[in-house]
Amino acid sequence: MAGVVQSVQALASSLGALPPEFVRPEHERPRATTFRGASPLQIPVVDMSLPDAGSRMVEAAREWGIFQVVNHGVPADTVAELQRVGREFFALPQEEKQRYAMDPASGKTEGYGSSVQRSTGDRKIWSDNLFHAISPPAAVNHGFWPDKPRGYREANEAYCGHMRRLTGEVLERLSAGLGLEKGAMAEAFAGGDDGLVLMQKVNFYPPCPQPELVLGFAPHTDLCALTVLVANDVPGLQVSKDGHWYDVEHVPGALIVNVGDQIEILSNGRYRAALHRATVSKEKTRMSWPVFVHPRREYIVAPHPRLVAGEIPAKYDYKAKTFEDYTYCKINKLPQ
Ligand code: OGA
Ligand code: NI
Repeated sequence: MAGVVQSVQALASSLGALPPEFVRPEHERPRATTFRGASPLQIPVVDMSLPDAGSRMVEAAREWGIFQVVNHGVPADTVAELQRVGREFFALPQEEKQRYAMDPASGKTEGYGSSVQRSTGDRKIWSDNLFHAISPPAAVNHGFWPDKPRGYREANEAYCGHMRRLTGEVLERLSAGLGLEKGAMAEAFAGGDDGLVLMQKVNFYPPCPQPELVLGFAPHTDLCALTVLVANDVPGLQVSKDGHWYDVEHVPGALIVNVGDQIEILSNGRYRAALHRATVSKEKTRMSWPVFVHPRREYIVAPHPRLVAGEIPAKYDYKAKTFEDYTYCKINKLPQ
């Protein structure tokens, strides 16, 4: 089993001064770089019950790589229960959480972990997390699913069912927006809906004595195809557009959808992967629950052949790299 997990949560509860390894250089600090004032730009909110939902998603995926959805059909109590079990897991004693410790050195990326442990030479981020596969059944290892609190498994399974439906629908709309058949993305990524791998993460951002000096998550694009995220009511997610960082406003009941690297590449750049980061609060714990949609491991990372035919050259060439290798390079910050 992996060693002791040092967590940001434990650090936050015992803290005097902020340890220097968390302090960002000036140009990365959240306050100095966030767009303030009367912005004409708003991260789109798409009402999925309206007839123009598909075209609005397509437009948002082109312009921003991120949008929120309302009337998405995921019941509020299913979301509340997912959030309850996540909250209660992080409230367990450290020794209990450590039973699920991830061990990236041995290639195990699932489980409970903290950026405090990672030694990539980067500045540390102010967050801990829990991460495990939820679908399809063959990809799930229940050894990484906490058996406390009560109801953890049922809550995650119920939410997962809705995520399969919702992510399938978004992929269909985005496929159609490229002039492809509805099933084209699912087919390319995974040989159909059943092959798509869904990973659930729970991010835990404890209060920070000097939130203006740190980030809960450094700027990145998600390496997957698509992410659907729900957070608690503490804001913190920001997205970059045209050199500015914008807050993703908390819209009660909404889910946040963002395009990851694989859809940007498959679309040959028609859709953009959202560059995003997370800030933290001085008084409140922020939590978020992203679900990542992954292609199968052997998927070849490349633009869809129908989008590079004729006059249009491929903007991306990863030399027949598999999704598994792409993931390895991105996690270990190696060139692609
Ligand atoms: C992530 C992420 C942002 C958030 O986990 O990849 O970007 O709002 N999280 O927690
Ligand atoms: Ni992300």
